[in-house]
Amino acid sequence: MPRDAAGYIRDAYRIDLRARYLGYSIPHPIGKGSGQLSLNADQLETDRAAGLAFVVLKTVIAEDAAGERSMEAWAIHETRMKVEPRASAEDRSGWTVTWKGRGWDRSFEDYLALVRTAADLTRSGALVAVPSVKYHLPRVDEPFRTAEYAHTTARLAGAWGEGPMPLEKDFSPTLAGDRLADERAGILRWLRDVPGEVRRAAGDVPLRLGIKLMNARFDEPFQLEMLAACAAADALVCFNRLWDPALGVAFGGWDLSERNLRVLRAAQERGLRLPPLVGTGNVCSGRVALDYARAGCESVELHTFFQLPLALYSASVGSRTQRALHALFFHPEDGLVAGMLDLEEAEVLHRQDGELRFLDLCRRET
Ligand SMILES: Cc1cc2nc3c(=O)[nH]c(=O)nc-3n(C[C@H](O)[C@H](O)[C@H](O)COP(=O)(O)O)c2cc1C
Repeated sequence: MPRDAAGYIRDAYRIDLRARYLGYSIPHPIGKGSGQLSLNADQLETDRAAGLAFVVLKTVIAEDAAGERSMEAWAIHETRMKVEPRASAEDRSGWTVTWKGRGWDRSFEDYLALVRTAADLTRSGALVAVPSVKYHLPRVDEPFRTAEYAHTTARLAGAWGEGPMPLEKDFSPTLAGDRLADERAGILRWLRDVPGEVRRAAGDVPLRLGIKLMNARFDEPFQLEMLAACAAADALVCFNRLWDPALGVAFGGWDLSERNLRVLRAAQERGLRLPPLVGTGNVCSGRVALDYARAGCESVELHTFFQLPLALYSASVGSRTQRALHALFFHPEDGLVAGMLDLEEAEVLHRQDGELRFLDLCRRET
């Protein structure tokens, strides 16, 4: 694994993997989604050393000045994660992580300390590292708890310090198992109003706001309505995991990427005007990352692929992040390099000034 893999790929193959995430130009499109793999400074350091492009910190549950959290139920402590195979509806075998925990389960002060580290890394150019928050989501007839938005955002901005603060707002996957998530009108209202609530709470602090959309328990046309409702975000992360009502857990695998890609392609076909897109869900190869790119995503954020049994990565040394990146870039059939060369051969992608550019795949009509 070359130390600067993106630089090496550019020199050796004339492939420019540069990508974008929440207004940042990044050397390649692979980042880590929020979750159990971004809980502390050591994990960030490992990811920096491995050459990951960006990391989203675990989602913290918003609180007001008195420490009240309307989404308290999300701050449960659960450590056991099970990485297991999951076959899709069409019997394609993939991987999922079964876990019943939800948001950050330590103190807000601890989270702010992690945000300080993330901000230093981001400013130094070593790794873009971004906080993630779950703010209050009211029922249809309730107002937003603005005190929670204001307090949490101000404290995060204080910890972040200089420069625009990047932030993902999580509409959590397990939310799909919540009664609240059954109300279509309520969901559309959240998506329309939450960006404004967060920006109001930020006041003068310059903010780059990514909205991470869930897979609601409705059909695909409703996913499109959700996308269209969220035009005020600076980026949309599409889409968090599916919900298995029988097992009472969120899940991934091929059902997830296939549904996500169907919805993103439908949005493209309809020419929906959307903020920049980031893909998430079963990115288990460079080729799947390229599928998301062709559906409009300028980068991708992964979780499950960083958790596979070690024997499944072909690299036999390095951190898990490094081994995963190695496969995503260099796998001879499914890697980004192989996939982009195939797209060139198929005349989907054309060289510009002698180079194949990842971002050329993401161009949307609108
Ligand atoms: C164990 C686990 C915990 C997660 N926790 C969060 C979270 O706190 N906030 C969030 O926005 N997404 C969370 N996610 C979702 C991931 O960031 C990612 O978007 C999703 O799993 C789809 O990507 P994947 O198929 O590569 O895992 C979590 C996922 C897993 C598997």
